[in-house]
Amino acid sequence: MAVTSRIMLIICIITSLFYISTAQTCSGYTFSTDEVFNSCINLPVLQAHLHWNYIPSTRSIHIAYRATQTSTGWIAWAINPTGTGMVGSQAIVAFHNSSGIMTVYTTPITSYTPSMKPETLSFPVSNLSAMYANNEMTILAVVGPLQNGTTVNHVWQSGSSVSNGIPQIHPTSGSNVQSKGSLDLSK
Ligand SMILES: *[C@@H]1O[C@H](CO)[C@@H](O)[C@H](O)[C@H]1NC(C)=O
Ligand SMILES: *[C@@H]1O[C@H](CO)[C@@H](O)[C@H](O)[C@H]1NC(C)=O
Ligand SMILES: *[C@@H]1O[C@H](CO)[C@@H](O)[C@H](O)[C@H]1NC(C)=O
Repeated sequence: MAVTSRIMLIICIITSLFYISTAQTCSGYTFSTDEVFNSCINLPVLQAHLHWNYIPSTRSIHIAYRATQTSTGWIAWAINPTGTGMVGSQAIVAFHNSSGIMTVYTTPITSYTPSMKPETLSFPVSNLSAMYANNEMTILAVVGPLQNGTTVNHVWQSGSSVSNGIPQIHPTSGSNVQSKGSLDLSK
């Protein structure tokens, strides 16, 4: 192969990798539901992204949390109003139930061995839905009013299995324990 055609090939590969990767990030992503979110961050671990709109009139946020996952795994996104880690998190979890239907509900994480069963949170959550496409699970929800302000500690998580309708334990090292941060949701 001539040097110029080799260079052309490399440019093509780099360009296509760029398009593949932007499809996975905030800027390149379009929701199949036509919903538009003005804010988004690519989270640093677990191939996850949080899109949101702050709704000042209700002090609420409309969120879409999406993360790479296999069809048999689960994803979760949470606000922790009382701390920074897992315990105390007010979580929304999504997975395929045993009928193969995407299921989404809220569950408070009260200990390191939480029930992971549907229960209400310390703040209102509405408009819940979930979807699975292109090896990604997405949770959509309206969260709030946020009584303690718009700067929150959030936590996100992924696990590979669900048993009898209950998401099973996630890895307890590496990315799965780095998946937390602070966010100003009014921005
Ligand atoms: C607001 O913060 C207090 C104190 O940390 C906490 O107990 C309470 O659960 C929070 N409220 C909500 C709605 O999360
Ligand atoms: C799975 O979810 C669908 C939709 O909510 C529901 O109709 C079905 O009964 C669920 N299957 C199981 C096994 O819970
Ligand atoms: C939430 O659901 C209500 C009732 O269906 C609807 O009026 C509202 O527009 C929804 N909110 C968002 C942000 O989609």
